[in-house]
Formats: sequence, structure tokens, C-alpha cells
Amino acid sequence: MAINYEGRVAVITGAGAGLGRSHALFLAKHGAKIVVNDLGGTVEGKGGSNSAADAVVKEIRDADGIAVANYDSVADEQSAKNIIQTALNEYGKIDILVNNAGNNIENSFRKMSMDDFRAVVDVHLMGAVYCTQAAWQPMIDQGYGRVIMTTSAAGLYGGHGLSNYAAAKIAMVGLMNSLVLEGRKRGITVNAIAPMAMTRMSKDAMDDKTGPLLKPEFVTSIVALLAAEDHKGSGDIIATGAGYYSKIGIVEGAGVYFDSDAPPSPDAIAERFEEICDLTAARPFPDAFAAVADAMRNVLRNLKSK
Ligand code: NAI
Repeated sequence: MAINYEGRVAVITGAGAGLGRSHALFLAKHGAKIVVNDLGGTVEGKGGSNSAADAVVKEIRDADGIAVANYDSVADEQSAKNIIQTALNEYGKIDILVNNAGNNIENSFRKMSMDDFRAVVDVHLMGAVYCTQAAWQPMIDQGYGRVIMTTSAAGLYGGHGLSNYAAAKIAMVGLMNSLVLEGRKRGITVNAIAPMAMTRMSKDAMDDKTGPLLKPEFVTSIVALLAAEDHKGSGDIIATGAGYYSKIGIVEGAGVYFDSDAPPSPDAIAERFEEICDLTAARPFPDAFAAVADAMRNVLRNLKSK
């Protein structure tokens, strides 16, 4: 499979630096027309300037690629619409959306102001919601789309001082899982990455040994695959960094079935809690209905066998 994006139009949010810049340079080098969106603010998402997006557009054009800058914030519905509209106005369509823009305001949950909580949810989650919804109808109309969410290990596993960031990042997975179903028959795939890369946002958490290994370009390789026409997979979450690529699963254990004539006592549950938490035979489900139906099938089988 020789990947190229000739004729494709990609919007990459937060592409003025770090991972987004790397994705933009790669997709442009391989033929995509790019909207380089970036607010150009601080790590916290405050302030703004045109210089970040402009610099990446210049890099792309200097290498004979095609790109246009957009400086809108993803965190506002109307300005997010402008980002997608830039692709429609400049290039007539949108094929690829990489929801990459991100900010970070760390604090313990105890001290976290609700303004700071919302400011992070607004960029990561609502930014992805606004941009994806603006792109969704054009993608449905053309019967084609590639959407990539940028989630995080912090969202999937938690992180001290990252309650706002983690809540937003795991919510992007819930968004993805539902859009996978709505996009399935429309030629639209939706996938997620959980990256590790040395960037402005992450540099304080890096050490001298691993930091230099974590080049954004390693993350871009999987984004490039998920954005490709020939890649039909949808709903995958891929952990990635420094040459590591691995699927992260949401799975449910085989479970324990009590006699359903009467609710089990908490003590009875406590006795079998280890079994309830055993993930040895864990499996994924394609959607919520499949998970519930599977559990109910087993409840009925359990009853019949009595
Ligand atoms: P970065 O700080 O270098 O890049 C983020 C970019 O998003 C910045 O250029 C910033 O100006 C832009 N941005 C922030 N708020 C925006 C808004 N409202 N509208 C438009 N643009 C906005 O950080 P990095 O590491 O490249 O982050 C990219 C994505 O990867 C983020 O979503 C981040 O949460 C995620 N991520 C990064 C990890 C890492 O190890 N670097 C780990 C896990 C997730």
C-alpha cells in the first residue's frame, strides 16, 4: 500500500507546533492540501498570534506543498466552523480532520477552579466536537472522511493534577465510539491516538534519556496511516511514541452471574469480587447494545440452567 493523499484536503487543528506541525508537514509532503489551524497561544491556551500557523504554512510552501493558515480557536462553535469553512472555501472540500489542538492547565482537583476545568474541556472535547460536527455533513455528502482524535494516556489511565485534561481526553473516546457507528455506512472512519512526544506541552515531564527519542514524527506515522484512503479500520485507539505502536482496548470481563431471583447481598458480591474483576477472558464489544445483549443472554442462560 503506497500511501499518498493526492487530491485530499486535510484540516489539522493546533498545527502551529509540536505534533500538529509534524502531521501537517507529512501530509503536505505526500500530496494533501492543508489547513494549518493554530491559535498561537500559551500552553494554557491563553493569548494568540498568527506566527505559529504562518511559520508552518511557510515551511510547507517552501517545500512546494499546498497550505493555508487559519488562526481560529477550536473552543468556540462559530470559530471552529470557520476552520472547516476555510478548507471548503480554499479547496472545495474536507477529507481528513485531525483533532490535535490542545492546552493544559495542571492543578490538583482540590485546587482546580471550574474556569480552568472548563477551559481545558472546551479545547480538547468541545473543540473536537465543534470541528468534527462542522466537517461531518460535508464528509457524509461526499461519502468519505477520515477523522482522528488525539486522546491521551492521562485520559485512559488518569494522571495526578490532570483531572480536567483526563476527563476531556476520555470523553473524546466516547465521542469517537459513537461516531464510528454513525460514520460506518458513510465511508467515514474515526480513530484515536494516545501519543507520547517531546513537545512544548510535555517537555517538563520528559527526562534526558527518553525525551530525545520521543520525536513527533514517530506519532505522525500512525496518524498518516489512519488518514489514508486504503486504511478502512475504524474505532481503534493506538498508543504511540518513539517507535512504539499498540492498540488500547476497552474490554469487559467474563463476569459473574448470581441467582437473579433476588439481588445478591453486598457480602455475597464481596466474596466473588476478585472473580468479578478478573479480566482474563475480557473481550471488546462493537457497541453498547452488543454489550448489554451479551450480558442478558448470559443471565437467561444462567436462569435456564437452574
Ligand atoms: P503543543 O503545545 O506543542 O501543541 C498544541 C497546539 O495546539 C499549540 O500550537 C497551541 O497553540 C494549539 N492550540 C491550543 N489551544 C488551541 C485552540 N483553542 N484552538 C486552536 N489551537 C489551539 O503540544 P503537543 O504535545 O503537540 O499536543 C498536541 C496534542 O497531543 C494535544 O491534544 C495534546 O493534548 C496531545 N497529547 C500530547 C502528548 C505528548 O506527549 N506531547 C501526550 C498526550 C496527548
